[in-house]
Amino acid sequence: MKHVIVSGGSRGLGLAIVKHLLEEGYMVSTCSRAKTSEIDQLTSQYPYFQWFQAEIGNAAQTALFVKQACDWAKETQLWAIINNAGIAKEGILATFPNIESDTLLQVNLHGALYLAREALRVFLRQNSAGRIINISSIIGSRGYTGLAAYSASKAGLDGLTRALARENGRRNITINSIAPGYLDTEMSSILSDKKRDQIIRRTPMHRLGTVEDITPAISFLLSDGAAFITGQTLTIDGGITT
Ligand SMILES: NC(=O)c1ccc[n+]([C@@H]2O[C@H](COP(=O)([O-])OP(=O)(O)OC[C@H]3O[C@@H](n4cnc5c(N)ncnc54)[C@H](OP(=O)(O)O)[C@@H]3O)[C@@H](O)[C@H]2O)c1
Repeated sequence: MKHVIVSGGSRGLGLAIVKHLLEEGYMVSTCSRAKTSEIDQLTSQYPYFQWFQAEIGNAAQTALFVKQACDWAKETQLWAIINNAGIAKEGILATFPNIESDTLLQVNLHGALYLAREALRVFLRQNSAGRIINISSIIGSRGYTGLAAYSASKAGLDGLTRALARENGRRNITINSIAPGYLDTEMSSILSDKKRDQIIRRTPMHRLGTVEDITPAISFLLSDGAAFITGQTLTIDGGITT
């Protein structure tokens, strides 16, 4: 059994990833700031699942989360970290408070960097191969009006992916990003109906993405078949960026 840590697994894409990996037989630990009923349900259903309360972006809490998760998994080696926790807030930059940008970058970028650092330290201690998957967004490469800080955070994440891939290839640790298009989750509820309709019209597949469109790619990147793929950003967006 392999242990995978997923940040932000209480709802949305993170919850779907957690469920998918549990069904595939991974040992999974996750965190979020608040617990949800889905977490309680998974806890009673799967002995190899554990939730921790942690605020990703807070360096001490992020490190403690990884330590607690690895202590809980005991003899099972850490195989991967999936940097999924993220927040989005809309507003044109000229009137967007700096504090909001700071918080957003702290969670989406610094939090992912801290988690990657902790994972790499565990891989070093284990003297093992490993995987890091960063959940980015097409907005990191394309930009989007009203999402400057979010876009910057995701572009930063893709840069982190490339740099870490170079730094860790020799140790058989791969680092990749997955860049979803617009998914039908709580996060995308910040979009107005007009923007939603516009996105659907511009998407060749003519719909928003679902979390199930993303989870198979996670399985693939965790599999032995993906051992030579590193430093890449895999776009899954129904063709909207083509
Ligand atoms: N939805 C989309 O259209 C879309 C598109 C492209 C990329 N993405 C990316 O996919 C990822 C997941 O998005 P989603 O749509 O599933 O979002 P979501 O439904 O809002 O879920 C976000 C998850 O992250 C957790 N979280 C947020 N801030 C956290 C923090 N500081 N510490 C710990 N946990 C935290 C949330 O739990 P708590 O709030 O309880 O902490 C929740 O479990 C994000 O990185 C997002 O940028 C989403």
